[in-house]
Amino acid sequence: MRIVVTGGSGVLGTQVVHRARELGHQVVPASRRWGVDLSTGEGLGAVLAGADAVVHAAANPRRSRLVDVDGTVQLLAAIATMIVPAHLVYVSLVGCAASKAPYARTKRAVETMIEDSDLPATIVRSTRFHPSAAFLARAMVGARRGVSREPARPVDPAWVASELVSHAVGERPDGCVHAPDLAGPEMLTTDQLADAVLAHDGRAHRFLRMPGLGRARAFATVADLPGPGALLGGSSFGDWLGRQPLSVRR
Ligand SMILES: NC(=O)c1ccc[n+]([C@@H]2O[C@H](COP(=O)([O-])OP(=O)(O)OC[C@H]3O[C@@H](n4cnc5c(N)ncnc54)[C@H](OP(=O)(O)O)[C@@H]3O)[C@@H](O)[C@H]2O)c1
Repeated sequence: MRIVVTGGSGVLGTQVVHRARELGHQVVPASRRWGVDLSTGEGLGAVLAGADAVVHAAANPRRSRLVDVDGTVQLLAAIATMIVPAHLVYVSLVGCAASKAPYARTKRAVETMIEDSDLPATIVRSTRFHPSAAFLARAMVGARRGVSREPARPVDPAWVASELVSHAVGERPDGCVHAPDLAGPEMLTTDQLADAVLAHDGRAHRFLRMPGLGRARAFATVADLPGPGALLGGSSFGDWLGRQPLSVRR
């Protein structure tokens, strides 16, 4: 199959490209790195030619109006012009329908656009990926305020990627369907996440630091627990962390 991966240079998209190639598919990564700008639609028509499926993993929580919303409008319009519309697989956030966090609301708005498009589409909601959980845990170490303290089920993006590819190569739905939520195998509290990254980084003491702007804030209040019937899988946070390189400290 020919599979286009928007955001193919990102944390998730890279894994999607890798997994789909591993299965022998023809994979076309698409992002600004390869001359495809979703916010303007530049380059979209060319990459979509002959595509059977599109895994849509391009996003920018700091410029979500432009990239997530307008970008998806462009993508849906381009798919709608195909003789046989490609099957769109969209990765969303767990809890986005109930959350009031701005980025979660954007993700739900994008879901609604896809649902209303009448195109063959599968929407898959995921919990926070391990790299984002580690980023947030580092940012919040010591602060213990300003970010969600709810328990979380962070998930390995490599496993999320393999599930998305399974949807992309699976049966093309008639219209838009929601697949089960994806979440990691274990439930962790904020403290457990922070302790795990401190141990990995070799830091003994907690220090006070508030989460930064942008990406951290965009995800900070999004629910981290999946709905009933979720699929749980992938590496645990600890196993994933153990495979990450140690940073050199002076
Ligand atoms: N991170 C999480 O914890 C998490 C959890 C659940 C769901 N998700 C969802 O999973 C998806 C992927 O997240 P991620 O963490 O892998 O994101 P990421 O690492 O930040 O990657 C974002 C991708 O979007 C591309 N992009 C940005 N602006 C673009 C534009 N104007 N045109 C085309 N491509 C553009 C970037 O490539 P260029 O810079 O080359 O354009 C990059 O490949 C997103 O939809 C996100 O909402 C993320």
